[in-house]
Amino acid sequence: MAKISIIGAGNVGATCAYTLLKSNVADIALIDVVEGLAKGKSLDLMQAGAIEGYDKKITGGTDYKDAEGSDIVIITAGLARQPGMSRSDLLGKNAGILKSVLTNITAIVPNAVILVVTNPADAMAQLAYMVTGYSPNRVLGMSGVLDSARYKYFIAQELGVPMASVDGMVIGAHGDSMLPVVSQTRVDGKPLAELLNRDKIDGIINKTKFGGAEIVSYLKTGSAFYAPGAASARMANAILNDKKEILPCSVYAQGQYGLKGIYIGLPARLGRGGAEEIVEVPLSPDETEALGRSVSSAKALLAELTELFADLTNYKNLSQ
Ligand code: NAI
Ligand code: 2OP
Repeated sequence: MAKISIIGAGNVGATCAYTLLKSNVADIALIDVVEGLAKGKSLDLMQAGAIEGYDKKITGGTDYKDAEGSDIVIITAGLARQPGMSRSDLLGKNAGILKSVLTNITAIVPNAVILVVTNPADAMAQLAYMVTGYSPNRVLGMSGVLDSARYKYFIAQELGVPMASVDGMVIGAHGDSMLPVVSQTRVDGKPLAELLNRDKIDGIINKTKFGGAEIVSYLKTGSAFYAPGAASARMANAILNDKKEILPCSVYAQGQYGLKGIYIGLPARLGRGGAEEIVEVPLSPDETEALGRSVSSAKALLAELTELFADLTNYKNLSQ
């Protein structure tokens, strides 16, 4: 029987659990360090099943043993952004949390696919790869599905079309240097550049890059969670059901796009093996340059992480 564990029963973790339960794909174990939190939310979610009509089981607690037998582990444990806080401000604290979560998880579920949501997502996915020693296809980060959703939403708003008419994706780091791939974006099959002028497109790119920060500025005490929860569930669904769906996510580049040894947002084919293939799509020269800049920002964050955690060079997988 399929099973997914979600570590961190906060806003994103609980929303992801609810989305997964509604699609009836797997039993779920919700785990959080705060006593009673995962237990309470899991009971609430079980009772919602009587209304929603799902019958998969969800358990909640603080004990990592509950994760035993999981096919996928989704990590949402960690601090969320507050107003004025960048994703990288979260680096040190969340790296500490991630290391403790991964130590527990690798002991209990050595064969699962690990999906890292905790921010800064690319650096945390890279840390997870290094700590676990897993093959890189089994460790991936959630980023591009969320950023692409925002991009599609802003395009649909601007053009007054249904969101389903928009086909486009965002690659690069999950941060201000992310890169909406305009050259490949189509609306009802037509290139975006034929439908909007450069100023309008630049406005959409800007709104996409700061889409997360905009929500933080309204919420004041946390960050977005409905779209992030749905994005994580969509990825888990593609993996669990071996859909071979191509979704942008944070993956370990090994030569693709001329990049090596870094976790960064790229299109990947998702199946039971995790990120089974990094798919190369054509980029314009400007986009190739922008991707390079985004990789530099991801590398800078990684260098900060290496400084904070001197033992990083002793990990099972080294970045190369
Ligand atoms: P939240 O504060 O609502 O939930 C975080 C949960 O993690 C809390 O319940 C907390 O008790 C738990 N936690 C902390 N340390 C833990 C540990 N050692 N073991 C188990 N649980 C632990 O935060 P929210 O909104 O759910 O966000 C979670 C993380 O996801 C944040 O780092 C946030 O920045 C990130 N995020 C990433 C996105 C992405 O696109 N990659 C999108 C949205 C959020
Ligand atoms: C977001 O983009 C905070 O990374 C999170 O909403």
